[in-house]
This record gives sequence, C-alpha cells and structure tokens, in this order.
Amino acid sequence: MLQLLYFLTILACSNSAVGLQPNIVFIIADDLGYHDVGYHGANIFTPNIDELAVNGVILENYYVQPICTPSRSQLMTGRYQIHTGLQHSVIFAPQRNCLPLDEITLPQKLKEVGYGTHLVGKWHLGMYRKECLPTYRGFDSHYGYLAGAEDYYSKLVTAKVNGERFAGLDFRDDLTPVFSANGTYSTYLYEKRATEIIYRHDQRKPLFLYMAFQSVHFPLEAPQHYIDMYSHVKDKNRRIYSAMLTAMDDAVGAIVDALKDTKMFENTLVIFTTDNGGQTLFGGNNWPLRGRKASLWEGGVRGVGFVHGAGVKDTKRTSMELMHVSDWFPTLLHVAGANATVTKPLDGLNVWEAITHKTAKSPRTEILHNIDPSFTRPYSPTPPMRPYINKHGVDTLHGHTALRMNKWKLYTGDPGYENWDPVPSLYLNSTVDTTCLVSDGYHPDCITGPEALKEVPSVRLFDILADPEERHDVADYFPHIVDTMLGKIAAYNKTAVPYRFPKFDPRSNPALQGGVWGPWV
Ligand SMILES: *[C@@H]1O[C@H](CO)[C@@H](O)[C@H](O)[C@H]1NC(C)=O
Ligand SMILES: *[C@@H]1O[C@H](CO)[C@@H](O)[C@H](O)[C@H]1NC(C)=O
Ligand SMILES: *[C@@H]1O[C@H](CO)[C@@H](O)[C@H](O)[C@H]1NC(C)=O
Ligand SMILES: *[C@@H]1O[C@H](CO)[C@@H](O)[C@H](O)[C@H]1NC(C)=O
Repeated sequence: MLQLLYFLTILACSNSAVGLQPNIVFIIADDLGYHDVGYHGANIFTPNIDELAVNGVILENYYVQPICTPSRSQLMTGRYQIHTGLQHSVIFAPQRNCLPLDEITLPQKLKEVGYGTHLVGKWHLGMYRKECLPTYRGFDSHYGYLAGAEDYYSKLVTAKVNGERFAGLDFRDDLTPVFSANGTYSTYLYEKRATEIIYRHDQRKPLFLYMAFQSVHFPLEAPQHYIDMYSHVKDKNRRIYSAMLTAMDDAVGAIVDALKDTKMFENTLVIFTTDNGGQTLFGGNNWPLRGRKASLWEGGVRGVGFVHGAGVKDTKRTSMELMHVSDWFPTLLHVAGANATVTKPLDGLNVWEAITHKTAKSPRTEILHNIDPSFTRPYSPTPPMRPYINKHGVDTLHGHTALRMNKWKLYTGDPGYENWDPVPSLYLNSTVDTTCLVSDGYHPDCITGPEALKEVPSVRLFDILADPEERHDVADYFPHIVDTMLGKIAAYNKTAVPYRFPKFDPRSNPALQGGVWGPWV
C-alpha cells in the first residue's frame, strides 16, 4: 500500500516545468554586500560560490528588500510588504508580530506537490506564538534560530524591554530548545545539519532545502583559522567579515559535495541570494553602489544572486533581466509543477523563462521597493524644492518610498543612508557606532553622524541603466516620468494594509520560558 502511494506520488509529481521535479536548494546569505563575492571582484575567497555562479546564470538586475524580515516575507509569500503589514522595519524578538497566519508560504505549496521541506538557520518571520514558527508554516523541520541576529557561538539574543535587559538562548531543533548548540560556531552546525538532511533524504521525493545562513550578519565572529587567512586586511571589521564569508563558502562547498555524493546534484536547482545589501558599519561593502543595508538605494537592494543546476539551459552567462525576490514564489512553484495560484493576489512574477533562456525577456517591468509610512531619522527632507505636491496626493515629504519602472527609479521621503562607502581594506580602522545597537539587532532607522543633518530633495529620479551608482538626480529633466511614477505610487498605496510594529511585550522575557526565546502567547 505504501509503495503504491509512493508510485502515485511520483506519477503526480512528474509533471513539472523541467521534467522530473528538481530538488531545490535555496541558499540565502544574511547581509552579504554587492562587493563581497569573489565574482564581483572582492578580495575575499568565495571559490565555491564563484564556481556555482560562473557555471550557472548570474542575476545582475536582481533586487531584494533592504532588510531581513521584508526580504524573507516576500520570498515566502510572493507578496509585497505593503500587502502583509510588514512594511516597517523588521520583527524584533519581543514583538507580538509575525508573517500573517493567513498567508500561504512557499514550503506549504511545495509540500502539496510532494516535496520534503527543511529550514536550516534563520527564520525571522515571528515567534510570539507557536503557529508563527517554521514547522507550522510548511516546513517539515527547522534547525536554527527565530530572531534576526544572535551570537554565533552562544546563541544568545538580548533585547531591552522597558529599560530591562532580556537575554536568552535562541536555538531550536523543531520546537525543542538545543542548549548544546551553545559554544559551536553556527556555520558549522548548519553545514552539519544540511548535509545530514541530504544524506538522509528519501530520494523518491523531491527536496526543498531552505539554507538560511546566519553569516555574514553582525556580530563579527569567526573561528581563528579563518581570521588568520586575512591577517593582511588592516580593517578589523573587514578582516573578520571576510573570515565569516569564507567559512560560509566552505559550508556551501560541503553542501554541494553532499549533493554530488548522493547523486542528487544533477537534479538539483541551486539558488543563491543575499537578503539585502551589505552593512558597511560591520564589514560589508556595496561599492560602487550607493547606500547600504536599510536604505532603498541600490546598495541596499541590488542583490547578489545566481541560479545553478537542474533545468537551467543557457548557462555560463549573466542575465540583465529585471527580477525581484518576490518572484521566487511563483517561479519555484512553476519549476516544481505546483499551482502558484493562492487565495491572495501575488506581486511576484514567474521569471523562469528569463532565467533559463538567454533570449527570453522578464515579464517584470516594475518593482515597488517599498512604501514605509513610518521611517524616521533625526531629520526630514527639505520642503519640496520641486513642484511635485502632486495631483496624485503622494506625501513626498515623509516616509520611505521607492519605485522602479523600467530603467527609472523614483524616491520620495527619506531613502536612508546616502553615501558611497569605499572598500574597507583601503581604510585603516573603521569605527562602529554602538549606540545604535538595540534589541536583537542594529536598529535600521537609527542613523547618527554627519549624514543625518544633510538636507535632501523630497523627490528624486535616477536612470539606473545609465547611472547605476545613482550620482545624477534627473527629476528636473523628466517631469512627465516623475508624474507617471507618483501616480503609480498613489495607486500602490491605495492597496496597502496598515503596518504592524507593536510595542515590545514584557511577557516575551526568556526568563519566563526557561531561558529560551520563543512562543509566549
Ligand atoms: C552558554 O554556556 C555558558 C557556559 O556554560 C553559559 O555561561 C551561558 O549562559 C550559556 N549561554 C546561553 C545563551 O545559554
Ligand atoms: C490553480 O488553483 C486555482 C485555485 O484553486 C484554480 O482556480 C486553477 O484552476 C488551478 N490551475 C491549474 C492549472 O490547475
Ligand atoms: C499612503 O496612504 C496613507 C493613508 O491614506 C497616507 O497617510 C500616506 O501619506 C500615503 N503615503 C504616501 C507616500 O503618499
Ligand atoms: C586598529 O585599532 C586597534 C584597536 O584600537 C589597534 O590596536 C590597531 O593598531 C589599529 N590598526 C590600525 C591599522 O590602525
């Protein structure tokens, strides 16, 4: 009977876009900057990543969101943040907030067509009640942490709630806290678990492995022998960051080796992406792009990404087709032979043809980078220097909004950190402003220093094709483009749901839960 069931499953599942349903190994690095991979010319060893990239299809007109929770929520649902209420900041550990429970997730849909689904590493889509956790959102298993950042060794997460310091372990095997994870570098733990999943996998089923590395998010920590590889790097942050990245690259190599060893590799589609741009305060770099993590500038959202393996036809090339992190949902469901129609409208588009055929065009012409009504820094943009208090009623003075339309990118309000940060190895020592370290992360809105005082126009327009470094604001020359794009922003804004950013809940205290962060409601 069981065998018959398997047989039927295989029959039902063979109907995929690339023939046999491929295994999908989706690798997401945390805070990996544009100028940080070897194939982009960084002085960091990433040989395993580079080899997959150059023998696959490198996505060079590919966008993610500027911070963690937003990118991960769009990957999981194919829906923009304005439609899930997650348009402001990230989910902090003490908040009663998570990816809305009525959103259908990618692993849920993949399970429907027979995939075994596993998350190794970071979740960051909410934990205040158990229904928010990965194993309730479509994953057969989860091994890793729930918050946004933690110590790589102790797995300690701290947060300040009403002036009180909350501290606890954030590491679980499914629902069970794993105290023994304390002391081992997370990259090693994740490599071990990922390869075990591959070796144990029942190959009569396709595999979906969501490999969400902690690396290379702060805190800057790496095993000493990796740091020693970079003793020539003067900047301390960059030195440790490079070590963290090379450790992660070795884990990527081990995962590929396990796939080859089990003869799964040939039928595996590997996707590699960052979740947002590099954090230049903590060793990351996005040169020559403008801005950094948490900004809407290209340095915050132009993603490192590539695809390698099963079903990818025209390989060893770079694609300049426009793609976005929300596109993985319908694209991977297409590849898996699943029905991508969900109850709510998708913002992602199926870009599979554009990935796999060099002559195919991406269906995507627009990206709403975000409309965050509540982004505030210690200054506001100047009153509009341009006559765009517009017929569309877009509030151009406040918030944090950017829209891409073909080659054009329009900003209103405050896009975030404005500078072009040079490659750190050219520095001596860079400094980190620790006053901005709050809760389980660096508060993305918290910017201090000279740039906080700069006055900027409330509407800016750039031609990303001609000017990818965003050095020439051309809003004054193209008023009709500005007008069209403001109209589109107004239309998107009408579809937005209210954002949720609840106060930190004192009941989240791990001291009330045996010293572990996790569901408290
Ligand atoms: C990790 O282990 C150390 C040493 O036993 C202990 O002091 C610390 O509290 C532990 N940390 C967590 C997060 O459990
Ligand atoms: C996909 O699912 C939707 C909603 O359940 C249904 O209306 C549609 O017919 C399905 N499409 C295919 C190709 O099965
Ligand atoms: C979006 O709509 C809300 C609610 O009407 C409004 O308060 C906000 O200013 C609008 N945002 C922009 C960028 O215009
Ligand atoms: C960087 O700072 C550290 C600690 O302050 C100091 O020991 C080191 O000499 C500095 N390195 C350079 C190259 O300035």
